[in-house]
Amino acid sequence: MPCQCSTVEEVTEEQVLEIVRRNQGRPGPLIPILDEVQNLIGWLPKWAIVAVAKGLGIPVADVYGVASFYHFFRLVPPGKTKIQVCMGTACYVRGAKQILESLERKLGVHAGETTADRRFTLEAVRCVGACSLAPVIVTGDVTHGSVTTTKLDKILESCDRQG
Ligand code: FES
Repeated sequence: MPCQCSTVEEVTEEQVLEIVRRNQGRPGPLIPILDEVQNLIGWLPKWAIVAVAKGLGIPVADVYGVASFYHFFRLVPPGKTKIQVCMGTACYVRGAKQILESLERKLGVHAGETTADRRFTLEAVRCVGACSLAPVIVTGDVTHGSVTTTKLDKILESCDRQG
């Protein structure tokens, strides 16, 4: 399944400014604005941060400071396939931590990071709603249940076919 995010080229500064305008009146608008912009683009490129600052009439450094402080904001583009490792209780007690550690070793990144070749972004997430299949990982739009560390190579190979 191809990435569902818009590409940077498809999103305009005007769309970002429209998000700013819609949220401007609410208290503490910066985080919801950045969240909406990230959902639209898939990450927070420099031009979008500049546009948010322009729309709010505040320094770019202030916007960047908030965007870089919170781990859920991405300042680099996500990988082609997002791998989410469920760390909810049901998955955790069935080995999610070992699965996450194994993926970190195989991919050479920590949770929250993207591989250098931009193939994968690895994330540790809360319950994905498939507890009966625990432990669960989600690659793109595909949910994999009863995952073991020995199944990970095959799952990673299948990601290339998803794209
Ligand atoms: S705890 Fe993992 S799917 Fe619910």
